[in-house]
Amino acid sequence: MGTTGRAIIEVDVQALTNELRKAYLHELQVFFSLWLTATVAEGFHGEELIEHFKQDALEELGHAEKLANRILELGGNPVVHPRDWEQGAGSPWIAPRKDFSDAEGMVADQITAEAAAINHYNEVAKMTFGKDPVTYQLVSELLKDEVGHEEFLENLLGRRKRAPRRRAAPRGRAPARRK
Ligand SMILES: [Fe+2]
Ligand SMILES: [Fe+2]
Repeated sequence: MGTTGRAIIEVDVQALTNELRKAYLHELQVFFSLWLTATVAEGFHGEELIEHFKQDALEELGHAEKLANRILELGGNPVVHPRDWEQGAGSPWIAPRKDFSDAEGMVADQITAEAAAINHYNEVAKMTFGKDPVTYQLVSELLKDEVGHEEFLENLLGRRKRAPRRRAAPRGRAPARRK
């Protein structure tokens, strides 16, 4: 990494690299999980899930690449053996459901992965806010993507499984004018 680029960072670079490595391994794990789930999914609802999960898998792989590049800039090394993904990611990898036609179950499982990513990126955003604008911008961008993924997956599960939203007040007639 460039000398000045490192000099402006006001957080412990090693601690930051460790957090980015954790996020990077989580992304690789989620990429694999989505790709594999899309590959084995079957049934009527599975067909709907396949296209979305394949597209999402590539997006998560893109996240992993951005994190790998930032790790390199910080002087870290993104080379890792696949057997170390799970331990380094800090959360278990999500295998497809045994019932390959359980599309709802597989969507619900992926929501937990999105939630873990949201929480972690939020932590790294707080850690770098005002101290490392480059990493802050990166994790904010990734956080925005994960929030969008969670929203989409929750919507797939349908209204009944989401937290209730406030209903708009019914429109009444305009009050009669007083004479
Ligand atoms: Fe991601
Ligand atoms: Fe995601």
